[in-house]
Amino acid sequence: MQVKWYEKYKKDQGNTIYIVFYRGKPVGTISTTIRDEEVEMGRVILGEKKYARQGIMGEAAEILLSRFKGKRIFLEVLKDNEVAIAFYKKHRFKVRGKDKKKVVMERFA
Ligand SMILES: CC(C)(COP(=O)(O)OP(=O)(O)OC[C@H]1O[C@@H](n2cnc3c(N)ncnc32)[C@H](O)[C@@H]1OP(=O)(O)O)[C@@H](O)C(=O)NCCC(=O)NCCS
Repeated sequence: MQVKWYEKYKKDQGNTIYIVFYRGKPVGTISTTIRDEEVEMGRVILGEKKYARQGIMGEAAEILLSRFKGKRIFLEVLKDNEVAIAFYKKHRFKVRGKDKKKVVMERFA
């Protein structure tokens, strides 16, 4: 299952997965997928929970998004993932749509 997911990712040429390093250690991931003039952000995952809430993922996201100046950045997040939604709101994302399960958020980089 995991392998298939990775294979699918590898085929998507506009998709890049970044590893977030903190003090030389890999601690998390963020992905971006370029879709025409827009960028989808995903896989925002802090793997090393002992570093939670220290601003590391937020700083990494800002550094990454600064590469896409002027572009619309969007993402999907599960509706009940309150922590992630708070994280994205802190980083200027606004809710732009909803369905039963997910929320779509966007900002301009
Ligand atoms: C979302 C995630 C990457 C944030 O990582 P982090 O290390 O806490 O990020 P930062 O320290 O940069 O940001 C902290 C902000 O995130 C939000 N946040 C993080 N943990 C929170 C918690 N337990 N409760 C409420 N808000 C929280 C808050 O907005 C917080 O800001 P504050 O401390 O000023 O209130 C991390 O919680 C994670 O990996 N979650 C699981 C994976 C996931 O659901 N990813 C999103 C998929 S769409």
